[in-house]
Amino acid sequence: MFKHFSLVCDMFEKLQSKWKVNGIQLFLILSTFAIGGSLTGMAGRKLIGLMPVEHPIAWFFSYIIIMTLIWPLMVLFVSIPFGQFIFFRGYLLRMASHLRRSNSPIENPHAVNTSEQPYSGTPAAPDHHHHHPILLAVFASGTGSNAEKIMDHFAEHPRIKVALVVSNKPAAGVLEKAAARNVPTLIIEKENFFRGDSYIPFLKEKGIDFIVLAGFLWKIPAALITAFPSHIVNIHPALLPKYGGKGMYGQFVHEAVIIAGEQESGITIHFVDEHYDHGGTIFQATCQLEPGDTAASLAERIHELEHAHYPAIIEQTVLKQVVKH
Ligand code: GAR
Repeated sequence: MFKHFSLVCDMFEKLQSKWKVNGIQLFLILSTFAIGGSLTGMAGRKLIGLMPVEHPIAWFFSYIIIMTLIWPLMVLFVSIPFGQFIFFRGYLLRMASHLRRSNSPIENPHAVNTSEQPYSGTPAAPDHHHHHPILLAVFASGTGSNAEKIMDHFAEHPRIKVALVVSNKPAAGVLEKAAARNVPTLIIEKENFFRGDSYIPFLKEKGIDFIVLAGFLWKIPAALITAFPSHIVNIHPALLPKYGGKGMYGQFVHEAVIIAGEQESGITIHFVDEHYDHGGTIFQATCQLEPGDTAASLAERIHELEHAHYPAIIEQTVLKQVVKH
């Protein structure tokens, strides 16, 4: 008895981690499946009764076809009062893309690193026909000149798309830049980011595969890093490991570099882990300091370097890290 109970708990836990939902949401999802399934049965029997099918085999196939067509509509319908419409819409789209995939014999030629999926249940499909681009979310807190270059770089890209711009500042310039390019935006708030679900279910529903930080000033919570392992990159306006860490952003970095009398500075593009400016370095480029440099003049040269390299390095990294099945 106890064994069966623990097996059921185990199954619920697996489903929770597969769908990245909490216990309440799992309960609502399973209820939607149950009620949607019963309604499908009832509606199916009614409809088949209206059809002039006599032969048992024809009846059987008609019944299966009717049920298959009604079921998605029924669960979507039931999911609305249960508040699970977004989950089920994503679920059905994933099912559709799995079906398409199983009909397609060719594997993704660019696939690498199959062990590092950001989360299970990502809407996924082979993208050799580029029907399902790899989706990026760009996180930025300020003007967003880097985000702008990134959006423009991928605007016509056959495999990668900026699908979302995320900001913690409702007045950030990056939001206008995103809107001008018809890129959806999300303004996040502190409580949910650090102590709630960190917007992971939302990012998952949007099918985000990879996160790019471009002047994003909040620390990334551990849950988000776990949900996107080796799938988050950041750019830092100095040569890490020097001049990194908490409070080291933007002009503070450049001031520190100048005060220290450095001969050169530069940019570091790196994977994000749970410490500020810490994960594995992907790329660095340097520039010389000039006599009379101010934080502003240095920032300008650093920005030039960032704009010249960040989009291309993101492209390489994403193609290496992300596999879409
Ligand atoms: C960039 O220089 C970026 O390297 C820096 O913020 C600036 C954002 O500029 N990031 C950090 O300092 C992170 N520690 P932008 O809004 O014009 O892209």
